[in-house]
Formats: sequence, structure tokens, C-alpha cells
Amino acid sequence: MIFIGSDHGGFELKEQIKGFLKEKDIKIEDVGCFSAESVDYPDIARAVALKVASSNSKGILICGTGIGMSIAANKIRGVRCALCHDAYTAEFARRHNDANIIAFGGRTAGLEVAKQMVEIFLNTPFDGGRHERRVKKIMELEEI
Ligand code: RB5
Repeated sequence: MIFIGSDHGGFELKEQIKGFLKEKDIKIEDVGCFSAESVDYPDIARAVALKVASSNSKGILICGTGIGMSIAANKIRGVRCALCHDAYTAEFARRHNDANIIAFGGRTAGLEVAKQMVEIFLNTPFDGGRHERRVKKIMELEEI
């Protein structure tokens, strides 16, 4: 199950990405928003982040820039949310950072790049090895 959410700044792109995932038969849960009406992105980031952290799954967050969503989601224990801009950042968010949520901007990413990022994010495994130690150190920061 992939959890997806957006604010009004990412609503249109979220709907398009949902269509893309449905075509691929990927099960998704949309936590909102459900219209282009203005909402507060931390509420949506919180909902997706809690679901991802408690189910060991992956999530997608879209706001105007992806910045607010990524900042908010990373406050939740167990979450590694990566703000991505292209195929390269999406690939390395998985390979080196073991990111479990991808964030991007509805006002900054085009549909084709967004689809590419989602596809790569969902299909690229963590490299492990020396990156295990570094990711473990990131997670230890939650104890401070
Ligand atoms: C909403 O206008 C905008 O601030 C939000 O979508 C996002 O870009 C925040 O980081």
C-alpha cells in the first residue's frame, strides 16, 4: 500500500499521479486533500507520515514546492522524507538514504518528471553497506 497526500498546491498533480499508479495496479490510499480548496500541508504530511511509519510502507507527498511537506513529515519518528526534483535525486533518495517518503512540488515538477520520480522511488532498493551506518546515525538523531 502506498500512501499519498497533497495540499491545494499539489492537488492537481496528486490526482494525475493517482491515475498513473492505478494504471500500474498499485494499491494506494489517498489521505487528502480532496479538492483544490486551501488546506494546511502539515495536517496532510502528518497523516501520511504516521501511516508510513506504522506500516513500514512508502508515501508520496505533494505541496507547492514539496518543501513544507518534507519538513513536516520528517518530524515523525521513523520517517525519512526526501524532497526530490528529478530522476537522480529520487534514485539516490532510495539507494543512499533509504527514504520512505518522497516529496515534490506541484508547482515545480512537471507531470512527466513526477511520474519518473515516483516510478524510480517505488522500484529502487536501498544499497545498504556503508549507507546502513549512515542511515542508522540519522535515525539516532530522533533520540536527541
Ligand atoms: C501553499 O501555498 C504552499 O505554501 C505549500 O503548498 C507549500 O509549497 C509549502 O511548502
